[in-house]
Amino acid sequence: MGFNEKKLIVVSNRVPYNMTKIRGEVKYKKSVGGLVTALDPILCSRGGLWIGWNGHVGHDRDFKDKIVVGKDCNKKGYSLKFVNLSTNEVKNYYHGFSNRSLWPLFHGFISQSHFNKDYYNFYVKINNRFANSILEEATGRELIWIHDYQLCLVPKALRERSKKDLKILFFLHIPFPNFEAFRVLPWDKEILRGLLGCDLVGFQTARDSFNFLECCKKILGVDVDFKDKKVFYENRKVGVVGFPISIDFDHFNNIAKNKKTDRYLKSIRSFGGDAKVVISVERLDYTKGIKERILAISRFFEKYPEYQKKVVFLQISVPSRTKIKEYIDLKREIDGLVGNINGRFANELWSPIHYLYKALPQQKLAALYKFSDICMVTPLRDGMNLIGKEYASCNVNLDGVLILSEFAGAADEMEKYSIMVNPYDMEEVADSIRRALGLHSSTRKKMMSGLRDIVRKNDIYQWAGKFLNYYNDVS
Ligand code: F6P
Repeated sequence: MGFNEKKLIVVSNRVPYNMTKIRGEVKYKKSVGGLVTALDPILCSRGGLWIGWNGHVGHDRDFKDKIVVGKDCNKKGYSLKFVNLSTNEVKNYYHGFSNRSLWPLFHGFISQSHFNKDYYNFYVKINNRFANSILEEATGRELIWIHDYQLCLVPKALRERSKKDLKILFFLHIPFPNFEAFRVLPWDKEILRGLLGCDLVGFQTARDSFNFLECCKKILGVDVDFKDKKVFYENRKVGVVGFPISIDFDHFNNIAKNKKTDRYLKSIRSFGGDAKVVISVERLDYTKGIKERILAISRFFEKYPEYQKKVVFLQISVPSRTKIKEYIDLKREIDGLVGNINGRFANELWSPIHYLYKALPQQKLAALYKFSDICMVTPLRDGMNLIGKEYASCNVNLDGVLILSEFAGAADEMEKYSIMVNPYDMEEVADSIRRALGLHSSTRKKMMSGLRDIVRKNDIYQWAGKFLNYYNDVS
């Protein structure tokens, strides 16, 4: 069987659907986030199995253990299989080790990382549970593709527990820190050994893959080939590669062009009046630079008062990890900042920041991307960030401008056609808004066409194809 026909088992912390129970009836709704945007279309068209947590605490008998999704639009659809987590497991494995230890550390927020032995013990326990759930399904003929930092120990657990020759791939969606930062983690060796259970480990950028190779060499003392990007480990060769993840360009491009989108656009035509609209969308997370951006917006109106009443910032913050202290504190701070700035600059008819704290359906988002004059993507650190790619795919009139952080993985591909900023530099960000507003339409068109070409050529199918082909070549 060619590797392209092999069954794909995708494994991630969360399945790509949110489940709710309304009057006893369970409803499934596709969730937001980079990983889902990236992998759902691939599994829909190729078929397979996705294993993950359903996002609920405990084992509710109304939620089935397996369901089939994504069969619409002549697609094959695929199965979802659920891993259950108790309250204590969510607290320690998900909120704890995943999101209070690894998440801040990997994004360079070392002082915000909490290293706690209980968190780690639960992380080991749940990674083993995921491994067992995979082993119930794996015959040795599938490709097992594990995703993201919540599951770093699963590859090793699989390798140790199975006598079969499993084909295991891993992709890290967030940055991989450099040696000096990574070695701070008390369980640095365990995480590296966990990942080295794979045949191929993928990262978003060449820099991330270099960091991983260097950590393997310096922390584990194993042989590493930096040129061919391989780690020699326990009589196996582990491939290491940097492939930037993408989105389904055609899907977003088509939504932006369809009639429903235009109807929605008509209904919001009055939004902002004649003002230029600047959009930002992200999960509410301290890595996304929301606070810093709001301060830069305030500086922009202060430094360039002629733009007051002429520009509206649409800030869409999607609620995320709402039980974690750092996220609760950040929400409070952002609420306060938005209030202060609106209080300072608004008049009876205009407010500088229009702030939404909720997720919007894709259709509305696509319409807003099409409609907005500027999109600001200014994370302090981000593995990739797909918002700039979504914006470009939906900006079918070629009149938008992307302001992009140099610390987003997406910068490597998109810097040529974006206005690049250091999100920590408030003056630079404020000036970049003015620069974007002043660009001639021919320049905007050239930049947006450039961005769209990049996303069109390197869409999600290319990414998955390249990753799987690369595995085929090195295996
Ligand atoms: O991109 C990083 C990531 O943690 C993904 O693994 C996940 O899909 C997304 O962000 C949302 O995070 P969470 O599952 O913690 O809400």
